[in-house]
Amino acid sequence: MSKITRRNFLGKSVQASVGVGLIGVGQTACSQTISSTESKGITVLSTWNNHKANKAAWSVLQNGKSALDAVEAGVRVPEADIEDRSVGYGGRPDRDGNVTLDACIMDEKGNCGSVCFLQHIKHPISVARKVMEETPHVILAGEGAYQFALSQGFKKENLLTEKSRQEWEEWKVKSKYQPIINIEQHDTIGMLAIDQNGNMSGACTTSGLAYKLQGRVGDSPIIGAGMFVDNEIGGAVATGMGEAVLRSLGSFLVVELMRQGRSPMEACKEAVMRIVKKQKYQDIQVGYLALNKAGEYGGFAIQKGFNCMFSQQNEHQLIDVDSHLKK
Ligand code: GLY
Repeated sequence: MSKITRRNFLGKSVQASVGVGLIGVGQTACSQTISSTESKGITVLSTWNNHKANKAAWSVLQNGKSALDAVEAGVRVPEADIEDRSVGYGGRPDRDGNVTLDACIMDEKGNCGSVCFLQHIKHPISVARKVMEETPHVILAGEGAYQFALSQGFKKENLLTEKSRQEWEEWKVKSKYQPIINIEQHDTIGMLAIDQNGNMSGACTTSGLAYKLQGRVGDSPIIGAGMFVDNEIGGAVATGMGEAVLRSLGSFLVVELMRQGRSPMEACKEAVMRIVKKQKYQDIQVGYLALNKAGEYGGFAIQKGFNCMFSQQNEHQLIDVDSHLKK
């Protein structure tokens, strides 16, 4: 039986040279490098308190399946969860009442697939995988993505729940577009996993910003923005205000910083600080998570309140991630 524990590294950091932060189990210093560590076995890391998603992915890995299978299975959990209001079914609509979904997936060989502005399909991540495996393309959008999904056997479904519809009706009274920081303490699931062969894959899926303009696409389906994996180095995922992540191609940046020797936490912090230096950041949230090939993880966010689920050595931990702004 695996267990869930909660950890909060704030104020307990052993990483004095870079300040407080999210530090992997057994990780002792920012100088730790990928080559100096041995494998820590199967691993899952996801944004926010997605413990059910981590457990689903974990179970796939325990059965000896690939990291690709694990991340797909993992993120399908919030996609189907009516209570998750920022991913898949039950997600909040755009300002015209359409639930439009973005998702991407990437395997250890660098293959990737993505869908954006997809409607009526509950599991965009599985359509993204089909794009990767069944087409010569990387991204399919809108009606083309929808028609492709139907051709692959996916069923048309109404994704706008009564709760979301009612909230949208209320929102229309003022029609004020004002994204809320850390809404409900979750937004977008990004997941990274390492399988028993040491291979890494990643997935990212979201219904995007509530009440966005019709046609808006965020960072989540863009390879290198919402998610990126390089099986030689590691992977990264992003959550929060997609426009800020897109402007800085954040996940690719995090992986490249790890390639240059930064720890996962240092890489995430630097990617956040690029946004802080160059963009208006005070009223938005962006959080990054990274996992390197040795199974060490890290994260950093603009605002307080970002957390993640980390599963390794049969333990599932909910971990608070450090941030630039402290309140
Ligand atoms: N990060 C999700 C979005 O901006 O759509």
